[in-house]
Amino acid sequence: TKKIILDTDPGIDDVMAILFAEAHPDIELKAITTIYGNVAIAGATHNALYLKQKYGFGADVAEGASKPIVRPPVGPTVAVHGESGFGDVQVPADVAGEADSRPAYQYIIDAVTAEPNEITLVAIGPLTNLALALKAEPNIVNLVKEVVIMGGAFGVNDHRGNVTPYAEANIHDDPHAADIVFGAAWPVVIIGLDVTEQSFFTADYLDQLRDDAAEVGQFIWDVSRFYLKFYKEKVGLNACHVHDPSAIAYVIKPELFTLREGPVRVVTEGPAEGMTIQKFDGRQYMHDEWQTQTSQRIGVAVNDSELLEIYRQTI
Ligand code: BDR
Ligand code: CA
Repeated sequence: TKKIILDTDPGIDDVMAILFAEAHPDIELKAITTIYGNVAIAGATHNALYLKQKYGFGADVAEGASKPIVRPPVGPTVAVHGESGFGDVQVPADVAGEADSRPAYQYIIDAVTAEPNEITLVAIGPLTNLALALKAEPNIVNLVKEVVIMGGAFGVNDHRGNVTPYAEANIHDDPHAADIVFGAAWPVVIIGLDVTEQSFFTADYLDQLRDDAAEVGQFIWDVSRFYLKFYKEKVGLNACHVHDPSAIAYVIKPELFTLREGPVRVVTEGPAEGMTIQKFDGRQYMHDEWQTQTSQRIGVAVNDSELLEIYRQTI
């Protein structure tokens, strides 16, 4: 089994990813670390604790950062994920259980120090917690097994941004953090819009899940109503893209994805703020950083039908 810490801003597709990770026999969900993004930090932590209580997760919950490291906060995406973060689904105000006493970045440092090369960090929200952990303890690059990220858009198949023409939400929320995480000397796999927008949870697929997967299927169906409405009105689809669950799918079965290697940088200012760029050719550019920076891997293609089938079977 693969031990993961899941860094998340729950979030409708985050719920879909969390339940996927918890249900799959090859994954041990060690902890959920929370981050602002789809909802403010208090809501993100509350939602994580609610899921832990509702489904009896063994995972710890640790609360993360409330804002980006440099840029001003963008604010929650209420239009996409609803006030609660779970669409029209009300999250009870009282939830049993408490978050760990440590902030998320410290939890991550302690966990990977206690179990060197055992833990995969999976981040499906803004990358602030990971950047803070790197700043506080740079040696974690040698202790983490792998870093898997949902975020970014590299222009493969003409896929660019979803919050601006060039930027994907998680990276746009904290571009400075993302640039630190991608530039660090640890192995990062970036599952961006180039691949997540190749897989679709159609309305029919979600109906089937509700019919076949008892309470969990019903819950996923319930939270997805608001999301589907957003997709219909703003994106023109009777389906939603498979963003955050795709990062979990990579952990379960990396062969679902075709990857491309090369150093990755993030634009931190200006109209293309949050844009992600990978150098993937053999050319020697004038600026040495592009020759010397750590190579990371990004997703450029996905076996979407198999991914959807694995999700269905797991749930
Ligand atoms: C990402 O942004 C959030 O809205 C989703 O949860 C996902 O992590 C997609 O761009
Ligand atoms: Ca997310």
